Amino acid sequence: MDHFLYQNGILHAEDVPVPDIAAEVGTPFYVYSSATLERHYKLFDEALEGLDHLICYAMKANSNQAVLSLMARLGSGVDVVSGGEYRRAIAAGFPGDRIVFSGVGKTRAEMMLALQGGIRQFNVESEPEMRALSGVAQSLGTRAPITIRVNPDVDAKTHEKIATGKAENKFGIPISRARDVYGEAAMLPGLDVVGIDVHIGSQLTDLEPFEQAYTKVADLARILREDGHDIRRLDLGGGLGIPYERSNDAPPLPVEYGEVIKRTVGDLGCEVEIEPGRLIAGNAGLLVSDVIYVKSGEDRDFLILDAAMNDLIRPAMYGAYHDIVPIVEAPAGVALTPFDVVGPVCETGDTFTKGRSLPPLEAGDLVAFRSAGAYGAVMASEYNSRPLIPEVLVHGHQFAVIRRRPTFDEMINRDTIPEWLES
Ligand code: LLP
Repeated sequence: MDHFLYQNGILHAEDVPVPDIAAEVGTPFYVYSSATLERHYKLFDEALEGLDHLICYAMKANSNQAVLSLMARLGSGVDVVSGGEYRRAIAAGFPGDRIVFSGVGKTRAEMMLALQGGIRQFNVESEPEMRALSGVAQSLGTRAPITIRVNPDVDAKTHEKIATGKAENKFGIPISRARDVYGEAAMLPGLDVVGIDVHIGSQLTDLEPFEQAYTKVADLARILREDGHDIRRLDLGGGLGIPYERSNDAPPLPVEYGEVIKRTVGDLGCEVEIEPGRLIAGNAGLLVSDVIYVKSGEDRDFLILDAAMNDLIRPAMYGAYHDIVPIVEAPAGVALTPFDVVGPVCETGDTFTKGRSLPPLEAGDLVAFRSAGAYGAVMASEYNSRPLIPEVLVHGHQFAVIRRRPTFDEMINRDTIPEWLES
């Protein structure tokens, strides 16, 4: 459920009419609902009730400082994957002991930053990384708390670009080698081994792969304990999918996901962490855009929007589906017509969808892409020299611009012309 509903025929973000925001900030823009973000966080928190747990919001999904600050106030932890994300987390008020550091290629500088600033744990992904971290921690006279990310070789049954838990993927160490690697980790003077980490992919719409992976993790935890390791924490990653297509079957609910966790690892007495990103932010955001032209082609009609692939790359990159709805509600029973919905960027890949059935739309009408709060703004670029679009956060009747649109001069003046070209 989200908080984007029609009221008197106009799409609202909580209690704010979307056209009011458009009038103030101009299109295109992203708008997020605080109530939806909060609700999604609480769904996970409730799903893990009874377990010692921490939700570590995967900020890669949406790392705007206002969104992070809201999450930090709710008591969430956070999953970061770069020095930049770590700095964002600290700036938004997350204490170091609620920050976990994931990622397949952490640099020594990133390790240093997190060790000095405070960290709950590093999720280590390889032996060389583990040795490097031990060295960095030793040089600072400290020990780095770690889990080791295992690759359980489970098929997450999701898009190939976002599946991470198969042996062929670059992530984690093969679970078959885990005992040896844990053995080495325990000997390294700069490390304190606290647990196991796993993350098998994103936009999972079936609980079965989670069940398989978590069962393997539970078995491994028992073996490692027998080997003498103090396995006291399990990071189970993120990945629970969201309903992009409202007409389709709904993916499992957080509470059902929580049951899988309790069933598979609940009896180990470990502290459990999860790293949801998409489910928290995805349906908490819209991308709002204006129809520039309706163009008749040879055999189809094109809806040309002022938003483009540089603003929301998911359709071009993953063939992803996003619901597109008019801001002024279409009258019940109105005839729908097929449109190819496209942006103004100069490549055919800048197509959001083909043959989508939509109510009649004209130049100047506003439309919204639903489920755009995760992996939307964070993946945007300035391709075609289109400045990054603004982000807005709604809270009840209030709204605030949480990232303004840069001016064209700001965009242009980030570049510099070398002296030798100036004369
Ligand atoms: N933890 C780790 C280690 C991850 O790599 C990810 C996502 C998450 C947590 C959060 O997964 P989520 O709960 O959001 O599914 N850009 C793609 C998604 C990439 C996901 C990468 N890792 C998209 O737009 O679909």
